[in-house]
Amino acid sequence: MTAPNLILLGPPGAGKGTHAEYLEKKMGLAHISTGDILRQAVAEVTELGKKAQQYMDAGQLVPDELVIELAKERLAKPDCARGWLLDGFPRTVAQAQALTKFMAEVKIPAPLVINMVISDEEVIGRLSGRRMCRGCPTIFNVERDDIDVGDSCPVCGGEIYIRTDDQPAAVKERLQVYKRQTEPVIEYYGQRGQLVTVDVEGEQADVARCLLVAATGGEMSDE
Ligand code: AP5
Repeated sequence: MTAPNLILLGPPGAGKGTHAEYLEKKMGLAHISTGDILRQAVAEVTELGKKAQQYMDAGQLVPDELVIELAKERLAKPDCARGWLLDGFPRTVAQAQALTKFMAEVKIPAPLVINMVISDEEVIGRLSGRRMCRGCPTIFNVERDDIDVGDSCPVCGGEIYIRTDDQPAAVKERLQVYKRQTEPVIEYYGQRGQLVTVDVEGEQADVARCLLVAATGGEMSDE
């Protein structure tokens, strides 16, 4: 296997969470989503959750110092020894630099970064149809799955809901934040020779296949 550590980089709605679940199963990596960790902190009304909520609801980034600390704590857990897949981190150059420093300190090989490319129009369409489960990490879409708010999750029976930050105004803000604060991270990893780019605008099964090939340097495929 080429890269035991992976980063999925891409705008909101690119399919990071959806495909991270797939790659996690295929490659046996620990899936770390800073968005999921923060949403859980908000739901449990922890100190972190109280600090993060206002930023998340408005579609803005949670301050670097909070997120860097939570990512480092998570990466130090035992399940990460088998390799990990970061979804939603880093999303500023300061976060990328902190991750590089942390990895050098604990002597972990540099990650492969997959840059997921998609148009704003497709992102807006996908996020307007996204439905989440409160009980498990499954991500749904009303356009494809026969499910909506009021139904029970077919996987765990949990409540189906719409994320607060999937409202149109927050999606617009998140796309702007991505261009302003996260796109420079693409350049950061490009200059370090750690970046591969994958077009993720297509059908989910096709995108999954392309990501698996990119993630493993062609050593694994779903054909
Ligand atoms: P986070 O949860 O990370 O949100 P995001 O990056 O905006 O990404 P999303 O979860 O919205 O989208 P996704 O790419 O995972 O797409 P998905 O797979 O769901 O962060 C949320 C907030 O937390 C941030 O705004 C910020 O406030 C805070 N935060 C988190 N990390 C932070 C950090 N590092 N620093 C600072 N703040 C941080 O797919 C979307 C929809 O499309 C689904 O319905 C899915 O079914 C569908 N879909 C997926 N792929 C396809 C396909 N190929 N074809 C058709 N439909 C598809």
